[in-house]
Amino acid sequence: MKPFLFVTDLDNTLVGDDQALTKLNRQLSQHRQEYGTKIVYATGRSLTLYRQLQADKDLLQPDATIAAVGTEIYLNGSDTPDPAWSEKLSHKWNRDRIVATTAHFADLVPQPDSEQRPFKVSFFLTEAIAAEVMPQLQSLLEKQGLDIKLIYSTGQDLDILPRHSDKGLAMQFLRQQWEIDPAQTVVCGDSGNDIALFAGAERGIIVGNASYELLQWHNDNPADHHYLAEAACAGGILEGLNYFGFLE
Ligand code: GLC
Ligand code: MG
Repeated sequence: MKPFLFVTDLDNTLVGDDQALTKLNRQLSQHRQEYGTKIVYATGRSLTLYRQLQADKDLLQPDATIAAVGTEIYLNGSDTPDPAWSEKLSHKWNRDRIVATTAHFADLVPQPDSEQRPFKVSFFLTEAIAAEVMPQLQSLLEKQGLDIKLIYSTGQDLDILPRHSDKGLAMQFLRQQWEIDPAQTVVCGDSGNDIALFAGAERGIIVGNASYELLQWHNDNPADHHYLAEAACAGGILEGLNYFGFLE
């Protein structure tokens, strides 16, 4: 058995089936202890909402947490985002201009203040109009020279981020730092903000309860190294880790 880099989304991926989570936690923490496997959580949540989830659920202490859809990286339980990553995202990022531009769109409903982050501006946007609103917003932002990326998840959340950030790019930043082989990396997710993880990984587990935008993406970009699990949440992760032979 070799060490691997385990990167997982939290809501509806790692978290959602408490019994399967307990079983997966046991196996992962044993693997980390014996082989030096690294555990990374990659969530859309701010650190504030992540701490709430930590208080509610039985989560392992990860080696790093990628928060706010990849715009913040916290190493070893630290409360301060990794400054090297923040520095990379600050180029051509003008948060005030973005906020001012979004004010022209009545359909964008701002998310709570805790989810508005230095490198992330977030709204609720209904699924029925998302396909129409997003290209308009994107083109208006780009016309002003703003270097941004729009990410839509679970048919309700719209995140605006610096173009060179997302969960996948943050994961690659850590992988390079830790010098882990891409073939020894596995990512797990269920929704739109996880697509970037799959796009940048050689092994991926899509949990059985994945939402339509990730399934659609998988359908359009089929790959043998992306495993579509039968089981939901942590049960699907266990299934995938066994499929790829990461666990004995
Ligand atoms: C989490 C975040 C939210 C974000 C969503 C999708 O729910 O709290 O701000 O929009 O993930 O990325
Ligand atoms: Mg999720």
